[in-house]
Amino acid sequence: MELDSGPRFSASAGCTIVTKTFESKCSCVRLAERHARALEFACIRNAMPKSTNYKPKSKRQALESVRTLIPRAQIQRRIAEMAQEIRRDFPTERLHLVGVLKGSIFFLTDLARLVSGDVSLDFISVSSYGSGAHTSGEVKLTRDLDSSIEGKTVIVVEDILDTGMTLQYLLRIFEQRKPRRLRVAVLLDKPERRIARVRADYVGFTIPNEFVVGYGLDYAERYRNLADVGVLTLGAKEKK
Ligand code: IMP
Ligand code: MG
Repeated sequence: MELDSGPRFSASAGCTIVTKTFESKCSCVRLAERHARALEFACIRNAMPKSTNYKPKSKRQALESVRTLIPRAQIQRRIAEMAQEIRRDFPTERLHLVGVLKGSIFFLTDLARLVSGDVSLDFISVSSYGSGAHTSGEVKLTRDLDSSIEGKTVIVVEDILDTGMTLQYLLRIFEQRKPRRLRVAVLLDKPERRIARVRADYVGFTIPNEFVVGYGLDYAERYRNLADVGVLTLGAKEKK
């Protein structure tokens, strides 16, 4: 049985169009390209979760708003580039991706699927922010890795590099465990806020000093499920 799903805009479908002149050939190619782009966009859209239809529970939440900073399609395009950059740097090695929970979940899962070749995964969990938008500066390990990283090529995958305290803490722990190589990939970098001397090897986007949510990043555990990254504006009471 042949499973038939949706419209076909493949190259072979394009070849079935009979062309008589060079000009009409060109317009067929252009048409096929447009269809391919439309399909690619539809795939990106379908692959990503839709933005939440967010209903505030309290007056305070009603005063919060999120302004899109990086749209989902741009995030996906940049992650595909990062995956290629990483593989180019380590063409033959197994890459052990270590996601820092919970903020990196969507970044890690998208990145891992776009890195070609041999890849393994693990997770670690730290807490540094409490439940609000201000850092306590204190980093605590709340869940360790499942397996040893000794001799492995480890890429630490983190949502955002802000003050750098979290990554400084993690890199210290990981270095003691003797990985073969240790690299850092972050989706977002806020260099203005840096306190610790840490830099990422792979950066998705450098952003201004704003509190952002979405695509894994939260405010008090909310907004992680937004497909875009956006700037959160709090209600007047919360800002004080
Ligand atoms: P750092 O230790 O200050 O670099 O912060 C790292 C952690 O703080 C990140 O993994 C995030 O979980 C959280 N964080 C920092 N900036 C933001 C933000 O703008 N929105 C949401 N979480 C943030
Ligand atoms: Mg985090």
